Amino acid sequence: MTTFVNLLELESLAKPRLPTAVFDYFAGGAHDEITLDANRRVYDAIALRPRVLVDVSHRDLSTTLLGQRLAFPILVAPMALQRMAHTDGELATARAATSLQTILTVSTLSSVTVEDIRPACALAPWFQIYVHQERALTEAMLERVAACGYGALVLTVDTPVLGRRERDVRNTFQPPPGIAFANMMVGKGGATTGSAERDSALAMYFAARHDAGVTWKDLEWLRRVCPLPLVLKGVMRGDDAKRAADHGVNGLIVSNHGGRQLDTTLATIRAVAEVAEAAGTGVPVLVDGGVRRGTDVLKAIALGARAVLVGRPVLWGLALDGEAGVTRVLTALRDELDTAMALCGCASLSDIGRDLVVI
Ligand code: FNR
Ligand code: LAC
Repeated sequence: MTTFVNLLELESLAKPRLPTAVFDYFAGGAHDEITLDANRRVYDAIALRPRVLVDVSHRDLSTTLLGQRLAFPILVAPMALQRMAHTDGELATARAATSLQTILTVSTLSSVTVEDIRPACALAPWFQIYVHQERALTEAMLERVAACGYGALVLTVDTPVLGRRERDVRNTFQPPPGIAFANMMVGKGGATTGSAERDSALAMYFAARHDAGVTWKDLEWLRRVCPLPLVLKGVMRGDDAKRAADHGVNGLIVSNHGGRQLDTTLATIRAVAEVAEAAGTGVPVLVDGGVRRGTDVLKAIALGARAVLVGRPVLWGLALDGEAGVTRVLTALRDELDTAMALCGCASLSDIGRDLVVI
């Protein structure tokens, strides 16, 4: 296995292992990739104010989320088509999350079915839903997810339409032969197929099948068809967080989709405090986008997040060495968080307070 010291090195290590179009799909963002870049950069501009002479000889990184105990507050973000990174795809990611006692979020557009992924997970995975225009298809999907024991439903709310990823347009991105949206193979018109048009196949799939008309009202429908706790992914404002809490939502993820949707949005870490405050104490708030260092995780928690999700580095680990690669990525981030806590005078996550950061 290729050795790496930190998560920032992974992208360039993984690049030669992947076809250009796949690498670009994984790595890229919308338009000028300003948000993609800002997500990461803004973390670096937040300074820490460590406490000293605290007994940190024993540190506890564990946390509880929607009734499940995690060994550390880092989850795997939902990402489509992971078999493009490694032949085991989502199964490898699931096994890595299991070995470290954390939660995997499975994408609607996974390349392994929800039924096949479920037994590879010890903690109940979360399922991310994209609502199709053909509501019956989504309802059938949700029944399957509930029936095989997923732990939460994550509705992605930042994607009424797909952001324009110019790398994918240039590459006419489409999944390599044999890799498809496994969950969608049932019913009509499932997998993406090639097209003569010069656009990303994913963009065309979204334009043709995805429902851009989902609103707050549809949360009731989702609740009716799926009994799982409901998490909204992609909330960036306090007023939306308050509205979500008023609708009885069980969790929020502050996210701009890793800079893949609306370019020039606020870096996610800058929205965490506002969202957490508006959501209130009863609704856990998570954040993703650009989390690459243990100190990033600590900063997110200091600003009000209960946990973070990590995206692309997991794909790079997968590309480098399958399950073992993902395990190493998550372990490295966990260990950096452990060190950051010790050096900030925090023995447990509850010791990580707002006083530790200067924005
Ligand atoms: C994603 N993301 C995503 N989100 C989602 O809700 N459903 C999905 O199917 C996907 N698919 C997807 C594919 C790829 C290749 C990437 C990189 C991302 C977004 C993902 O869940 C998360 O919000 C970001 O990736 C987090 O940012 P970082 O950690 O990648 O910077
Ligand atoms: C993406 C979609 C699938 O970001 O969420 O590529």
